[in-house]
Amino acid sequence: MRVKITETVLRDAHQSLLATRMRTRDMLEVVEQLDQIGYHSLEMWGGATFDTCIRYLNEDPWQRLRDLKKKMVNTDAQMLLRGQNLVGYRHYSDDVVEKFVTKAYDNGIDIFRVFDAVNDVRNMELSVKVAKGLGAHVQGTVCYTISPVHTVEKYVELAKQLEELECDSLCIKDMAGLLSPHEATSIISAMKKEISIPISLHCHCTSGMAPMSYMAACTVGVDVLDTALSPLAWGTSQPPTETVVAALKGTPYDTGLDLGAFEEVVRYFKDLKDKYRGILDPISEQIDTNVLIYQIPGGMLSNLVSQLKEQNALDKYAAVLEEMPRVRKELGYPPLVTPTSQIVGTQAVLNVLMGERYKVIPKEVKDYVRGLYGRSPAPISPEIIGKIIGDEEPIHCRPADLLKPEYEKRKKEAEEMGIAKSEEDILTYILYPAIAPKFLKGEMEEESLAVITPAPAAPQEYTMPTHFRVEVDDEVFEVKIEPLGGVSISEASPKKPESIKGGVTCSMQGMVLSIKVKVEDAVKEGDVVAVIEAMKMENAVHAPHSGTVKEIFVSEGDTVTPGNIILSIE
Ligand code: CO
Repeated sequence: MRVKITETVLRDAHQSLLATRMRTRDMLEVVEQLDQIGYHSLEMWGGATFDTCIRYLNEDPWQRLRDLKKKMVNTDAQMLLRGQNLVGYRHYSDDVVEKFVTKAYDNGIDIFRVFDAVNDVRNMELSVKVAKGLGAHVQGTVCYTISPVHTVEKYVELAKQLEELECDSLCIKDMAGLLSPHEATSIISAMKKEISIPISLHCHCTSGMAPMSYMAACTVGVDVLDTALSPLAWGTSQPPTETVVAALKGTPYDTGLDLGAFEEVVRYFKDLKDKYRGILDPISEQIDTNVLIYQIPGGMLSNLVSQLKEQNALDKYAAVLEEMPRVRKELGYPPLVTPTSQIVGTQAVLNVLMGERYKVIPKEVKDYVRGLYGRSPAPISPEIIGKIIGDEEPIHCRPADLLKPEYEKRKKEAEEMGIAKSEEDILTYILYPAIAPKFLKGEMEEESLAVITPAPAAPQEYTMPTHFRVEVDDEVFEVKIEPLGGVSISEASPKKPESIKGGVTCSMQGMVLSIKVKVEDAVKEGDVVAVIEAMKMENAVHAPHSGTVKEIFVSEGDTVTPGNIILSIE
């Protein structure tokens, strides 16, 4: 049975190795040749591409889609969609999901690969239905991870649910490179007995096992393999296309592709890689088997190191590594992929840094325990729930059921700003309200290739979100967080008193996102008086005692270090 190939060089490969920075013009030069190769599909949109286009490249992602699609006459255009999160980092309301999927289809997407970080089918349902209704090919996704509750039976059950949703095919998504050849065989052969839709396997080479797992998958009937042309393969990217094609030649799984057909495109991407050399993080090209020991994806490890450096606590690295699986277990073993990787990672860091577990809990962790990201794979124990959200009752419904429609409201906002030239523009604004206005007004500049070194080199799936929604006096603001690297604290901070009566101190290094009180306000013990962004998450500072706010020593945007007094309450 012939195995088909999905080429990822225009999306996941450069997201994994080049921080998603490949320009549309560099794709347009080669897309016609790629279209001639005979691939099953060309993954070229979604994931982090949307974000990067408007944040760094001054490119309209919709235009990229249209331009590429125009030159793809033989090959299906494929995108990665984060279920109810679309191509953003939070759940969007149903009307926005409907509109986005429709517009993605209208602009050229043929195959929608839909996933959810915690494998909660309810978060994929709507996008699957909408795309199906439009006549697109919809691929339901099972995120692979390792835990006592992630059994072959569970994966098969999930695959059956996705087939029942009328998905046209299924993807096993091994974003961290954890899937061993043996497991690939067990899962795919078990699925093949229960579902009849084709199965795609998407692995990253992080632990080095992917090519072997691909071979094993072939022997039990996998239908499609995801690969990347060799210059942008290996490491945290996919196995190399030419290697897989060559390895399967003459076997029952022959891809039918001609090795000679790759020569030119491989040369093209070799040269292109040189051009992007400055943003290639050597770590992302290495094999990393730690991922198997700690179940922490490679990109997340490098994030962890930079978080600890930021907190001046690199000596705690080993302790945090050990804490990570504990937190993951307590939170019900979520697969580690955006955004759950940040949720688990940051809580583990805080547990170690604070010297007391769950002493400080970011909002995202609370929301996760509240059920706002969906159902955790394993139930969370009542003790942990109590520790994290107190007496609050977690939700059990589909999270998006709690969201009010927002398309019309946002459309009005965009029109008032004069940035709503098309429905696509309005969607861009809804997804990225903090950066989209500047982009849509044409006030952005393309980031230079020479200066992008500080960019996250890890796959976006594992990197921290850099913008948040922050509530101040019931108004929601979008806040973009810039890395603190290079800014020395003494320069950045105003003078804060060393000690003062009733002083409320901050317990970690971070930035003041918002101050929730004014001088003379009466506060009760436990009230949130300020929110500090630390390690890319929101952390509330509570009033240690009741009283009146006497003085405030910091402003929003200020950098604070542990022990800094931020205000006083008498
Ligand atoms: Co991937």
